[in-house]
Amino acid sequence: MIAVIDSGSGGANVILECLKYYNYDFIYLVDNKNCPYGDKPIEDVKKIIISNINFLLKKFDIDFIILGCNTASSIIGYEELERIKCPILKTKPDLSSLVKQNGKKLLFATKNTIDNSNYVKYFLLNYNDIKTLYIKSLPKYIDNYLSNVNKENYEKLEKILKKGLFFHKKTKKYLKNTTNIALGCTHFKHIEKEITNCFDKKINYFYCEKNVAKISNFLIKKKKQDFSIKVILTKKDDSLKKSIMDLFL
Ligand code: DGL
Repeated sequence: MIAVIDSGSGGANVILECLKYYNYDFIYLVDNKNCPYGDKPIEDVKKIIISNINFLLKKFDIDFIILGCNTASSIIGYEELERIKCPILKTKPDLSSLVKQNGKKLLFATKNTIDNSNYVKYFLLNYNDIKTLYIKSLPKYIDNYLSNVNKENYEKLEKILKKGLFFHKKTKKYLKNTTNIALGCTHFKHIEKEITNCFDKKINYFYCEKNVAKISNFLIKKKKQDFSIKVILTKKDDSLKKSIMDLFL
């Protein structure tokens, strides 16, 4: 069984990408109780992730774990990984593809991913034409939106996105002219269309799910004929659970 952990619906995008390569049994822990991870102090997120990992290892027969969350992947270091007796794969923004593009480039992620990932730091240090952006609590808004997609919620999300993208005078012009965006949060693929609508032009997106799915494919010893996905939420929320299950139909 493969365990996938995220604070919300983002992990589903990782599983969907894995299913392009292989069938397997997945246990997907949706830590909606602690969503969003992206703005929390890193020591708190570390504790939360370790306790989620221990819970899964105790309860299920896990072959390996995928942190289906860029934020968790940025925060969990080698020290923590060494102590866990199970292989763990991390999800990272696809910055190596982003830097090869012409035109304005943006890494759209969470605050913790932008500030704490050594991988991100490496790219920001060496490629000074990448701008970064986060919108506080956006993953939480995305989960609420997915739970109930309607005109009112769409307008709410659009307002949050437009404010986050174009509110600051200093960055407004650059962002308006951006054509390449690395989505550095697994939740963001769910609102790709909504993000594009804010720009009102074609955007080239670079996704974080592909690399981790490809790597996980190498760890599978024996592929299965079919797949199964068990979704567990850390806080009861039937509409979020249903909207996540519907993503796999
Ligand atoms: N899907 C998570 C990520 O990729 C969301 C983090 C959050 O909860 O803020 O970073």
